[in-house]
Amino acid sequence: MEYTVTNKAVTKFKSDCLIIPVGPSAALPEFLLETLPEATISAIKACIKLGDFAGKAQQTTIIAAPEGLEAKRLLLLGTGTDQPLSIVALAKIVQSAISAVKATGAKSLSWLLSPTLLDGHSVDEQLRETVRLVDAALYRFDQYRSKKSPATVTRCTFMVEAASTSAKQAVVEGKAIAAGVALARDLGNEPPNVCFPAWLSELAHSMGKQYDKLKVSIVSEKQAEKLGMGAFCAVSRGSEREGQIIVFEYKGAKGKPTALVGKGITFDTGGISLKPGSAMDEMKYDMCGAASVFGTVKAVCEMDLPIHLVACVVAAENMPDGRACRPGDIVKTMSGQTVEILNTDAEGRLVLCDALTYVQQRYKPETVVDIATLTGACVVALGSHAQAVYANDDALSEALLSAGKQTGDRGWAMPLWDDYQEQLDSPFADMANIGGPKGGSITAACFLSRFTKESRWAHLDIAGTAWVGGGKGKGATGRPVPMLTRYLMNTAKTKTVK
Ligand code: BES
Ligand code: MN
Ligand code: ZN
Repeated sequence: MEYTVTNKAVTKFKSDCLIIPVGPSAALPEFLLETLPEATISAIKACIKLGDFAGKAQQTTIIAAPEGLEAKRLLLLGTGTDQPLSIVALAKIVQSAISAVKATGAKSLSWLLSPTLLDGHSVDEQLRETVRLVDAALYRFDQYRSKKSPATVTRCTFMVEAASTSAKQAVVEGKAIAAGVALARDLGNEPPNVCFPAWLSELAHSMGKQYDKLKVSIVSEKQAEKLGMGAFCAVSRGSEREGQIIVFEYKGAKGKPTALVGKGITFDTGGISLKPGSAMDEMKYDMCGAASVFGTVKAVCEMDLPIHLVACVVAAENMPDGRACRPGDIVKTMSGQTVEILNTDAEGRLVLCDALTYVQQRYKPETVVDIATLTGACVVALGSHAQAVYANDDALSEALLSAGKQTGDRGWAMPLWDDYQEQLDSPFADMANIGGPKGGSITAACFLSRFTKESRWAHLDIAGTAWVGGGKGKGATGRPVPMLTRYLMNTAKTKTVK
């Protein structure tokens, strides 16, 4: 897919479909009146008068062979308001525009960007986000079908007033983030018989070869045992497939790194505390935290960001087996703290705690963010619109929330109060791995907080946002790659200013 930006005249530009966002007011905005020829304006007005188009949010109306334009079709895209849009509203209209385009045979698109479409965002910002959103809307995962669906759109050109260097850079960034999101979705959607820890390591190695600034190292299950990662090994032991800890180091700047740690349970059966059968296939998505780490690394490499990043994926399969850990087992973590495993289905925190200790000891990061499909309770609390954001540092929490607002990949701050900690008390070990039925997402975060005391740390519970469940629309969303990449881009910016 090719994305470009041009300041060529809209009237002269050839494409299969020109997309124009229009609000509900019959009086078209000044900007459109100035840009479009008389004949096109009359055609749009006729559509409005006939009642074919009212500018309602996500409404789409196609005018074939529009007079005055070289484009083969004109797609009127309802914005639902004459006021500037939020990024979340933009995501929705981009989705409906692409659905309408897919129903035609259009291969090339042109997209007229209105300078004031987005609330509080520059045109460059609008460009960057629209590239990403168009790409996400065109995404499909069909490599396991014997009959592939025919290619749809292959080119999208954004029409702007000035195709400045910064506009071009915005397109490059949009493409980089889109590539990261697509990678995260691909990895999430891969079946669990293909995507398992060693397969992820292979992929990491090939990325290491692709990008100069990227180094890859692997901690094998044997090495993990030697390092004293009793919790990680307890989970991984139940699988025939070897668990692995994959560490990327991207050196685009000097100084202490920011570290990401992603939960990569390539399949979560629950282990001996076996999950019920219904929708168990969706537990292939239990590596979406890891997938988002892969996606973020890809985006960072593609953008060549001036940051120092350590990105870790803790990969294992949670299976019931003769060697699997059992409820009641007590294990010693790499940190030295002991854990009584009361439920083998609370495996995410067990693999994460050792990976967190490893990354902190080895790389002394300035900030650590872990990302995990950690608890069903998080889905109950926040549904699928926001990921839970926990942090032991208010500025870090704020930075992640604001990156979420900027991209529409939103988070919501959750409490990490000490009051919740006692739910993890165990009569036999330093702590239990579950905290009872109340506040399940919070007690899981409290568990992790015991392994990150020395660091500026945040935890994202993405159980509700990483994939869409259910029937035909099932699939990975690529979240929170947009939030994470924006967070990292923002840290790069503040550092250059200093
Ligand atoms: N991977 C699951 C969390 C999950 C469940 C994410 C459903 C998305 C949808 C995690 O490993 C798990 O099983 N958590 C348990 C914890 C419980 C045993 C304390 C859960 O949420 O039920
Ligand atoms: Mn589980
Ligand atoms: Zn899990």
